[in-house]
Amino acid sequence: MAIERTFSIIKPDAVAKNVIGDIYSRFEKNGLSIVAAKMLHLTQAQAEGFYAEHSERGFFKDLVAFMVSGPVIMQVLEGENAVLKHREIMGATNPKEAAAGTIRADFASSIDENAVHGSDALETAQREIAYFFSNDELCARTR
Ligand code: TYD
Ligand code: MG
Repeated sequence: MAIERTFSIIKPDAVAKNVIGDIYSRFEKNGLSIVAAKMLHLTQAQAEGFYAEHSERGFFKDLVAFMVSGPVIMQVLEGENAVLKHREIMGATNPKEAAAGTIRADFASSIDENAVHGSDALETAQREIAYFFSNDELCARTR
């Protein structure tokens, strides 16, 4: 299986719940390594640009308001089949539909405050990584 990189955000609700370490631990236990990370409080423009694909959706305004409501921590995860594996660890968008033991089942309170973001495909991952990280911020892993 191919080694991939995917993009992850621990959203403001999960940062406020103090579960960054728990979520990082789930990545690592599932074979995903952190190759870049930063904590920041997104600006309105950053949040709108990041979620531009959803700009016509009814939930867009609330989504952006939520994403700027507090700091987030974002990371690039590397590992075999990382894009799909990360989505599996996250669970479904709506925590009511998320499988037991997934991050969203354990930490998300609703579909709009759902704890984490993860790229949905390899191409999306490349675009999302480049949106927040420069090439020299991506660290190579020694194996
Ligand atoms: P989406 O890309 O469909 O989900 P995912 O985060 O699993 O890739 O939607 C992006 C975010 O928009 C989602 O995490 C939470 C928010 N959202 C809502 O608030 N209401 C909704 O009905 C949907 C579909 C998404
Ligand atoms: Mg998505």
